[in-house]
Amino acid sequence: MLRKLEMRTREHSKNFQPEDMQISIKGKNCIVTGANAGIGFAAAEGLASRGATVYMVCRNKERGEAALSKIQLSTGNPNVHLEICDLSSVSEIKSFSSRFSSKDVPVHVLVNNAGLIENKRVTTSEGFELNFAVNVLGTYATTELMLPLLEKAAPDARVITVSSGGMYTAPLTTDLQFSDEKFDGVAQYARNKRVQVALTEKWAEMYKNKGIGFYSMHPGWAETPGVAKSLPDFNQRLSGNLRTSEEGADTIIWLALQPKEKLVSGGFYFDRAEAPKHLKFAATSQSHAKIDSIVDTLRSMLVSSKV
Ligand SMILES: NC(=O)c1ccc[n+]([C@@H]2O[C@H](COP(=O)([O-])OP(=O)(O)OC[C@H]3O[C@@H](n4cnc5c(N)ncnc54)[C@H](OP(=O)(O)O)[C@@H]3O)[C@@H](O)[C@H]2O)c1
Repeated sequence: MLRKLEMRTREHSKNFQPEDMQISIKGKNCIVTGANAGIGFAAAEGLASRGATVYMVCRNKERGEAALSKIQLSTGNPNVHLEICDLSSVSEIKSFSSRFSSKDVPVHVLVNNAGLIENKRVTTSEGFELNFAVNVLGTYATTELMLPLLEKAAPDARVITVSSGGMYTAPLTTDLQFSDEKFDGVAQYARNKRVQVALTEKWAEMYKNKGIGFYSMHPGWAETPGVAKSLPDFNQRLSGNLRTSEEGADTIIWLALQPKEKLVSGGFYFDRAEAPKHLKFAATSQSHAKIDSIVDTLRSMLVSSKV
């Protein structure tokens, strides 16, 4: 099934317009989270190669520095910077945002890429289930706290959130931290990725007058360190049929480069085109009505966390 899906989706590239990617974004500031590996690394490199000033947000200094040097070397762009932040911690995100905000630079592109599948139930030091903490709360907190800098780049600002086709299997639920006794990391990941899609839709509505575009996307199934670690059987079974990280990052870069008039704020994208948010007959579409109560919960988690 997945193999067929990949073959079909590779067909999409036949419709790609090479000129869509031949755009310089020199002078634009882009933040990419989880930029030291996999799809985030490829996105940061792709943006840097087109002249952007790139801020790589990574949790580990050594891995971040190694990735930064690689990108500077491969692109010849010296304007690539490292910011250290563990996105599973709201208090670290708050410190990072306040540090970063003191630079007072407009943020043209925020790529919420950092994400994971943790198969065991792990609780962060702030008391949150780990998948939720990074994939949902981290994405929410980073975006909300970057809004003033994104507004400075209006009307060209955009937030690109890397979701997953895995979200098709999950309706939106207010059970954000997977309260079932038997923890299922893959199911929790799918729920998290559904929240990202619904949140993107909500942000587009809430902030439609701020000149910021919000897009979620599916990168396709790509062979990355994260997939090898969290889904070893899947990775092994499909090895050679998965995308490269660069192929996974393609639509992220495309969304960052296109004139905004070409894009639909709140949309979910796959292979440089808007894709449906719900599968036919899947009965997930009604569930998006729950997003208001989810936003209230996330907002109170953000407000109540200490720096
Ligand atoms: N690969 C796929 O097939 C696929 C398919 C659909 C969606 N996605 C989505 O694409 C995104 C990237 O996935 P990937 O496959 O490239 O994963 P990856 O190889 O595991 O890379 C994930 C990146 O996120 C970082 N990260 C994880 N937790 C973090 C934290 N607490 N704080 C800061 N950074 C953190 C990782 O840093 P470390 O190196 O320090 O761990 C790494 O740089 C994710 O959102 C994923 O859900 C991937």
